[in-house]
Amino acid sequence: MRTQVGIVGAGPAGLVLAHLLARAGIDSVVLENRSRGYIEQRVRAGVLEQTTVDLLRENGLAQRLDREGMVHHGLELRFAGRGHRIPLSELTGGRAITVYGQQEVVKDLVRARLEAGGEILFEVDDVTLHDLDSERPAIRFRHGGGDHELRCDVVAGCDGFHGVSRPSIPAGVLTAYEREYPFAWLGILAEAPPSSEELIYCSSERGFALHSMRSPKVTRLYLQVDPAEDLANWPDERIWEELRARFATDDGWTLADGPLLEKGITPLRSFVVEPMQYGRLYLAGDAAHIVPATGAKGLNLAVADVRILAEALEAWYRTGRTDLLDGYSAACLRRVWRVQQFSWWMTSMLHLFDDQGAFDRRLQLSQLAYVCSSKAAATSLAENYVGLPYV
Ligand code: APR
Ligand code: PHB
Repeated sequence: MRTQVGIVGAGPAGLVLAHLLARAGIDSVVLENRSRGYIEQRVRAGVLEQTTVDLLRENGLAQRLDREGMVHHGLELRFAGRGHRIPLSELTGGRAITVYGQQEVVKDLVRARLEAGGEILFEVDDVTLHDLDSERPAIRFRHGGGDHELRCDVVAGCDGFHGVSRPSIPAGVLTAYEREYPFAWLGILAEAPPSSEELIYCSSERGFALHSMRSPKVTRLYLQVDPAEDLANWPDERIWEELRARFATDDGWTLADGPLLEKGITPLRSFVVEPMQYGRLYLAGDAAHIVPATGAKGLNLAVADVRILAEALEAWYRTGRTDLLDGYSAACLRRVWRVQQFSWWMTSMLHLFDDQGAFDRRLQLSQLAYVCSSKAAATSLAENYVGLPYV
């Protein structure tokens, strides 16, 4: 088998890349180790930046997103028993975020790619990368009971944090930067109407909680928990009690509940490797970096990477110029580190830390009060949250 760009992983990074390349007339094959059903059901975050929505729309991939996505012009920060609205659009010249589940984005991207005749192979096994430092790298894998080799010009490693691409780079090439947090998120999807029209980021004395949504009938909620926490210790009623306690306000706000559709625990981590490239292998998305979920940036950052990669590949195929490909890693990392800083800042401001004393808590509350009372501070949050157009 032969293609121009071999893409490992059919998450947002790999799928958006396949679409952008196709539009530039560049062939690709996407190799995914899970089934189509699995990746289309996997529940992840659900906030799209303005730039992400614009890119999907420009590429004809936003019909359902435009119908079903929920456009939000503000968000709420809640602490000390009160809510404060940050008017995102007012502070950013009309920019907004769209709430639309990542698995819905994945469904739309897969369908559009297959309808256009694109090749996505699901349920491939034993993917290995070869000859990355040559001009003809190869991907070997098993599929449908047989062994295959895909020869390509370039490999795009879009296979997430646990994929094979990053570990295929020889030791000593990459430098990893990492921070682990002393908490995880217990997330639920509930058949209950959202209790507020906007997202609520809540910093309570019992820990962080987040109110989000997927539709007018489905709420997505998160609780800060210990990273070693066992889901078995969280029967549904305990989750609702804890959510109610954390979101409680002085004026008696109420949280609508309903049957749970999904429940899971996700660790929070900050992680970056530099550079995001080795020979003819280019890493994109979670394969190269992870942000803690507090700013909902993971998908958006993945899309930002592949936009840069697609432009660089297009220039290379069209004119032979290599400067954009050579600058891929540096160009991505500027945004990656901006988003890392923002995600770390949101996380640090809103969560309770184990070793945190009363002094540190006062600092967090002062920071929250400042963000909610100073236009300059609120604008800084808002422009990062809706997504900086250029970094
Ligand atoms: N071979 C083939 N595919 C693989 C392999 C492998 N060895 N390992 C992992 N994959 C697939 C995964 O099953 C997944 O579908 O690669 C895909 C990676 O997708 P994501 O993890 O979604 O990563 P990415 O596309 O970078 O998306 C960015 O943003 O909201 C965050 O973490 C969230 O997934 C999100 C990410
Ligand atoms: C979500 O809706 O899943 C979500 C929203 C905001 C976040 C993280 C996740 O910061």
